[in-house]
This record gives sequence, C-alpha cells and structure tokens, in this order.
Amino acid sequence: MTVPDGPRHARIHGVGGYRPERIVTNEEICQHIDSSDEWIQQRSGIKERRFARADETVVDMAEAASRDAIAMAGITPDQISVVLMATVTHPYQTPAAAPILAERLGTNGPAAFDISAACAGYCYGISLANDMVRAGSADYVLVVGVEKLSDFTDKHDRGSAFIFGDGAGAAIVGPSDFPGIGPTIWGSDGENWDKIMQKEPWTGLRADMTSADAGSVEWPHFAMQGQSVFRWAVYTIAPVVDQALAAAGVTAHDLDVFIPHQANMRITDAMIKHIGIPPEIPVARDIAETGNTSAASVPLATARMLNAGEAPHGGLALQFGFGAGLVYAAQVVILP
Ligand SMILES: CC(C)(COP(=O)(O)OP(=O)(O)OC[C@H]1O[C@@H](n2cnc3c(N)ncnc32)[C@H](O)[C@@H]1OP(=O)(O)O)[C@@H](O)C(=O)NCCC(=O)NCCS
Repeated sequence: MTVPDGPRHARIHGVGGYRPERIVTNEEICQHIDSSDEWIQQRSGIKERRFARADETVVDMAEAASRDAIAMAGITPDQISVVLMATVTHPYQTPAAAPILAERLGTNGPAAFDISAACAGYCYGISLANDMVRAGSADYVLVVGVEKLSDFTDKHDRGSAFIFGDGAGAAIVGPSDFPGIGPTIWGSDGENWDKIMQKEPWTGLRADMTSADAGSVEWPHFAMQGQSVFRWAVYTIAPVVDQALAAAGVTAHDLDVFIPHQANMRITDAMIKHIGIPPEIPVARDIAETGNTSAASVPLATARMLNAGEAPHGGLALQFGFGAGLVYAAQVVILP
C-alpha cells in the first residue's frame, strides 16, 4: 500500500467573520426576564449581542464569513478540498450544512460535514484540518464556526436568555513551510452531559404532536446550569490550557494574543489569572458586543482583533473552546 505524503506543516492562511445587523441590547432582553442591564454586565460582561433575521440561516452567515477567510488566504474556492462546519443550530437533522455551504461557495465538490462539539467546535475543526492537511488527505480546508442561537434560546429563561448571540467565523487551513498549529489538547466529560443541553429531544416533539396530551413537551430550547459550567470552566479547563502551551513548547510570555471562547468575561479573567497571561498581552473580549456565539466565538474574535490591529498578523495566539458535551479543545496557532 502507498499512502500520500502530506506537507510537514500546516497553518491558518486566512480568517473571516460575520455579525448579523440587528443589535439586541440588555434592555430588550430584560423585557422577557426579571433582570437588569447592570446585573447582566456585572455577571457576564455582556452589553449587547446580535440576532440574525428570521430568514437568515446558518449557511447564509457561514457564507459571508467564509468569503472573507478565502479572500485573506488568497485562494480560490476550487482549491478547497474539505469543508468542516461546526454548529449546533443548523435546524435540519440531515443533511449537514457543510455540503450546502460548499455548493454556495462554488467549490468543486469537496468532502463536507458538520461537527457537533458546541463551543469547542471551531477548535476541534482546526485540529482536524491540521491533521488532514499534514496527512495528505486535504489541500486547503475551510473551517467554519456558526450559530443561530436565537432560534434555540428561551427568551423567558433567566439563566440563559442574556448569554447567547448569533454569528459566524471562518478559517482556511492549508500547507505551510513552518509549524503553524500546535498540538491540540482536547477531551470530553460526558458525565456532565446535562449541564448545557437541548431540553427535549426532537422525538419528544413528535410524541407531543401525536399524543392526546398535546402541549406536554416544550420546543427544545437550550438550557444551562450556569454555576456548574462556570466552576467546570475555571477549575477543569484551566489546566488544559497550560498543557496546550507546554505541548507547543511555548510559555504565556511568548504569546502575542489570548483568544478564549467568549462564554463569560469573568471566566476569561479567571483564566488569565490561572495561566499567568502578562498584562500587556491583548485578550479577546468580544463577548461585550457579541454575547456567546458558541462555535463562532473564537474565529469571530480573531477576525475582529486582526482587522482592528489589536492582534498582529503572524502573531502567536493561544485559543480554546469549551461547552456542551461537556467538551473542550485548546491549541497554540500562528495567526494569518
Ligand atoms: C449564567 C451566569 C452569568 C450566572 O451568574 P452567576 O454569578 O453564576 O449567578 P447565579 O446563578 O449564582 O445567581 C446569583 C443570583 O442572581 C440571580 N439571578 C440569576 N439570573 C439572573 C438574572 N438574569 N438577572 C438577575 N438575577 C439573576 C439568582 O437568582 C441568584 O440570586 P440569589 O443569590 O438571591 O439566589 C454564570 O453562571 C455563567 O456565565 N456561567 C457560565 C455559563 C457559560 O459559560 N455558558 C456557556 C458555556 S459554553
């Protein structure tokens, strides 16, 4: 048997982001829950978030972010041999969203599939793309993190209504002359599967529609045990991030930017303290204007920081994601 020889290294060649037009303030969120702008800002750091239009889909948002990433990478869509779409809010059980996106972009029938790893989905995708390029099974890989969480958020749930937002972020991973993606430290904690979850399975909805007792099953909104997730992130995930630095052979002092999943500003602050990120290193704080966009949060924050000049092109970034599953992934990357 012969196997293809991949390039020794892979890197991120371009990133892009898309934010829906409509800004949703904390005041608007508080029309449905007993809360306040002050409480939400103090406990989560969120000032506002964006919601997609009713007719705007995850594929629409992913397309806009992907076009930016493709432009920054300086490639054409037909050079893309794999499309990976990380999302938990594509409303079809099947088919996956990735083949539809691949078609929209004018690619040439690449391998295409979705990743269900919630807020870690983008970092999972970067890990897969890195391995595919290096193994020779892909040339350029499009990795997208996209969510329309407004469709699955219960606007009357005090514990989660203010957290989530909509958006898309994308990256192109391809061959490189130098190592551009460090080893991924990733894993899962299935014992805590119920800490962030869709409240009801789709089959529950069907049972409801056919039963005489219609109305007993709710629309399957997402629900979250906020305090437990907070503690898990701060105490369990922090050491994972240390391992990602060590695996890449760098320390926090070598970093040019720190891009954690945008879950809660206080989680970010606790991470900074735990890892010992020096104060002069810029940190993604996109959550203030974007909320938690799950799989989209890391690439959206990356695109914003690069475009605003807050993160240097070619700089060393530590990125990580964690969320429903529970799952997590962390890696050091060189920015495009
Ligand atoms: C959701 C979150 C902001 C809540 O903050 P918290 O400090 O843990 O708040 P608690 O749930 O402990 O509640 C504290 C108090 O505020 C109240 N409260 C809860 N939600 C409230 C709201 N929306 N507005 C006002 N008060 C609220 C509670 O009733 C409680 O009151 P009490 O002290 O009188 O009992 C926080 O837990 C969090 O961000 N968790 C992580 C979530 C996350 O990252 N999810 C995504 C992972 S991908």
